[in-house]
This record gives sequence, structure tokens and C-alpha cells, in this order.
Amino acid sequence: MKLDRPARRATLVVHVIAAAGWLGLTLGLLALAVTAITTESPAMTEATVRSMKVFADWLILPLALLTLLSGLVLSLGTPWGLARHRWVYTKFWMTLGTTVASVFALRPGVTDAAASVASGAGVLDPTDLVAGPIVSLSAYLFMTVVSVLKPWGLTKRGRKHRAGSRNAVDGRGVRQTA
Ligand code: HEM
Repeated sequence: MKLDRPARRATLVVHVIAAAGWLGLTLGLLALAVTAITTESPAMTEATVRSMKVFADWLILPLALLTLLSGLVLSLGTPWGLARHRWVYTKFWMTLGTTVASVFALRPGVTDAAASVASGAGVLDPTDLVAGPIVSLSAYLFMTVVSVLKPWGLTKRGRKHRAGSRNAVDGRGVRQTA
């Protein structure tokens, strides 16, 4: 499957919007979590943790899946390939890892904290509440830098592919998206 130029450009726009949205969401979650654990006001704690729950319930999974799916389409539909360039392959596994962690650790943690503040017990595990957003924010910042700089060259598979064909994996065309 090879994407033609308009399809590649449209998918790239969707991909960057989804990835930027995911990054912004995590930044928002971090601001809310820090406020929740530092404020003196129980009403503010409840409001911020409840807001985190709304974001976690409605936005995390759709943005994660959209980033992953559009990234897969771009990888498989362009000469970049999924496992030919280290920067793409690294992003793929990191995105998969952070998606799983968001669904099975971050979201349940926020749900527990929301139940706990609703029962009047406050935030029982403040470290847990900020840890999720800190870890994912660091991962997305790293992946954004990697996406722009595209470091580390070809994988073993990419070198084999290039040796086997003159398909110009690193030639003109790859970076001429926009
Ligand atoms: C949070 C995760 C991700 C972030 C922040 C991110 C960010 C970006 C950004 C900013 C670009 C534009 C780079 C440029 O045009 O110079 C890009 C392109 C790209 N991304 Fe991602 N991405 C993420 C996940 C993924 C995943 C999971 C894959 C693969 C499965 C992927 C594959 C690609 C490919 C192949 C391109 C180049 C597209 C082209 O030139 O046509 N990305 N990404």
C-alpha cells in the first residue's frame, strides 16, 4: 500500500493533530493533578480530580488510538516503513506502551482518586496521581523531538531492504511531504 501525495498529507495532518492533542491533554492532566495535591481547599481538590476523570474517560483512548492508527498508516503507506527506520520503530513501541499504560494504570488511578474524593477521603495516593501524567508527558515530548529530528538511521531490516532494492528509502520523496 502506498499513499498518494494528497492522502499522505491529509494523514500527516491528522497524525500531528492527534499527537499534539495527546500531548496537550497530558499537560492539562498534570496541571490538574498538581493543583489537586497542593491546594488547601477540599472543594478545589474534588473539582480538579473530577475534571481529570472527564479527560481520562473521554479523551485518552480516542487520541491514543488515532495517533497510533494514523502513525501506522503513514509508516506502511510511505517509504519510511514500520520497522525500517529506528525513529519510527521506537515511536511505534513507545506509543503502544504509553497507550496500554494509560488505559490500565493512568485511567484506573484517576477513577480511584475521583471515587476517593467523592467519598470525602481526599486523594489517598498523591504520588500516583501525578506520576501518570509526568511519565506520559515525558514520553510524548521525547517522541515529538524524535519525530522532528528523525535520528538513528536504518534498522537491520531497513539496511537489508535498501540493499535488496534501489527503492530510495532515504532518497528524495521521503521527506517531501508538505
Ligand atoms: C505520541 C506519539 C507520536 C508523536 C508525538 C508523533 C509525532 C509526529 C510528528 C510531529 C510528525 C511530523 C514530523 C515531520 O513531518 O517532520 C510525525 C510523523 C510521522 N510519524 Fe509520528 N508521532 C507519534 C506516534 C507515531 C507512531 C506510533 C507511528 C508509527 C506507528 C508514527 C509514524 C510516523 C511517520 C511514519 C511519520 C512521517 C510521515 C511522513 O513523512 O509522511 N508516529 N509524527
